[in-house]
Amino acid sequence: MRTLVDRGDPVLVEEPTYTGVISVLSALGARPVGVPVDEEGLRPDLLALAMERHRPRVLYVQPTFHNPTTRTMGEARRREILEIASRFRCLVVEDDWAGDLSFDGSHRETLHALDGGRHVLYLSTFSKKLLPGLRLGWVAAPEPVFDRLVALKQIEDCGSSPLVQAALHVFIESGGQAEHLDRVRAAYRSRAEAMDAALRRHFPDEARWTPATGGLFTWVVLPEAIDGDELFGAAKERGVLVGRGSLFHVSGSGRNTLRLTFSSATEDQIERGIRIVGELLRERGAKSRARERSRDLEAVPFL
Ligand SMILES: Cc1ncc(COP(=O)(O)O)c(C=O)c1O
Repeated sequence: MRTLVDRGDPVLVEEPTYTGVISVLSALGARPVGVPVDEEGLRPDLLALAMERHRPRVLYVQPTFHNPTTRTMGEARRREILEIASRFRCLVVEDDWAGDLSFDGSHRETLHALDGGRHVLYLSTFSKKLLPGLRLGWVAAPEPVFDRLVALKQIEDCGSSPLVQAALHVFIESGGQAEHLDRVRAAYRSRAEAMDAALRRHFPDEARWTPATGGLFTWVVLPEAIDGDELFGAAKERGVLVGRGSLFHVSGSGRNTLRLTFSSATEDQIERGIRIVGELLRERGAKSRARERSRDLEAVPFL
């Protein structure tokens, strides 16, 4: 981001979005503006409005298994987003961190591929599919941006370790990565199904979520009266860590949302954890409110 934005620049992001990008933009003094998502991710109508109003240089977006909502854009939505970004001459930063983590092994066409790489800076990482400790990723960017990135990386860390890169290259070439991905996809699918079943068993009727089809977590929208930040503390006391939805929002909303990660827990732990959070929700009166009230739970203020 440092190569792309200056202090005070507006940057459009999904609302909610990855906490890491919120921290980076804040540290750079840039101004993140959240554009709401629907079941298919970033909303094109509100994106156009935000482009018009803020004239940003950059849009940061995760089209596949979006963190934290796990939603994925279909091709028509992807094309719409690209058309709007190009109309407003806005560079799209496409974070494809989870594109390889679909449970059925399918792949979506990236924004970068659909656009021919003209207005899209594509980035991905080995962190989530292999090992966070590798700290290796890759980018594909329009040429002038790419040159600036290379120059800045040289200054920042003198380049990533050639030894680690060479070892990873051998691992990928020998089929190790493909084998590993088959194994983790099957494990994640089974854990996601366990989480879905546990949520159906233990969460109040008013809670809403979309079963994950890839990625590492499930996104839950709770009745508006539930304070996810308070719930986080109560769950932690009972030995369960949940992701507070408010952390993923730039507008200060989303306190009634949770990100529940299934990737690193056993199915027994998932069952136990969801049962405990379900009990906490019931203690907080999340059972008997009418479904009517949960209809607009994801409406967020829009600048
Ligand atoms: C959406 C998203 N993008 C990027 C990353 C960062 O990956 P890395 O560990 O390579 O910095 C993460 C890690 O949590 C992520 O969730």
